[in-house]
Amino acid sequence: MIGIFDSGVGGMTVAHAVEKALPGFDLVYFGDLARTPYGSKSPDTIRRYTQQNIDFLISKGAQLIIIACNSAASVTTEEMLSGYTLPIFDVITPAVQRVLSMVGKSDSKSKVGIIGTRATVKSGIYSRKIEAAAPHCRVIAQECPLLVPLVEEGWLDKRETKMIVRRYLHPLRTLQIDALVLGCTHYPLLKKLIQPRIGNRVKIIDSSEEVSASVQSYLEAHPTLKNSLSQNGGNRFYVSDITEAALATARKIFGRRIDLLKT
Ligand code: DGL
Repeated sequence: MIGIFDSGVGGMTVAHAVEKALPGFDLVYFGDLARTPYGSKSPDTIRRYTQQNIDFLISKGAQLIIIACNSAASVTTEEMLSGYTLPIFDVITPAVQRVLSMVGKSDSKSKVGIIGTRATVKSGIYSRKIEAAAPHCRVIAQECPLLVPLVEEGWLDKRETKMIVRRYLHPLRTLQIDALVLGCTHYPLLKKLIQPRIGNRVKIIDSSEEVSASVQSYLEAHPTLKNSLSQNGGNRFYVSDITEAALATARKIFGRRIDLLKT
């Protein structure tokens, strides 16, 4: 089974992308709704939750895990994962790889924008990883704390949301960035609003698509693991709390009703 966790239901954007990339493979999802949001919590607390969530997914039969939450991935250390024998993916690494393949080794300065929660932006993870491999690249990260609650309220197309998106993107637009990473589970739902406001020439990198493509190629290269993954049509979506808003967001992401199982 492919295990995926997030601080809530936003990570279902990743689950949905994995479902499309690897149809038929069973998913076990955990959304930590009782403790969401992670994006405003301290790194130590997020690390503790991350470890608990990984252990939970393993207890439910996960053989490969995706840390779908950018805030969790941004503070997860190699040391934390060193005790696990199963492959653990995160949403940040494949997005960074996509940026690096785009900016190449050219001498001309590329500018890459990152948008995410406070925890993700404060961690500085994207800048560190991108600038270490591509010193000619300038990374500009913008925290967007109001976007997660707006998405959770279903305000995907409201005037107020458009205004806030424009305001957050303004500094990045002024700097004429070349690419923009959607560094948060919820932002793929705002992609249609983000693209025209950042400019149509800016390439948007969606971490949910990047991580699902990366898992897909990993499984192609590891057929024993791939063949051992169950395909019984039995996706399960666990959450630590059930709310009306979560059910509505899950439906919006998958375009169908998702039954949430309370842990
Ligand atoms: N899942 C979080 C992320 O991708 C957003 C919601 C939260 O702050 O917990 O950063």
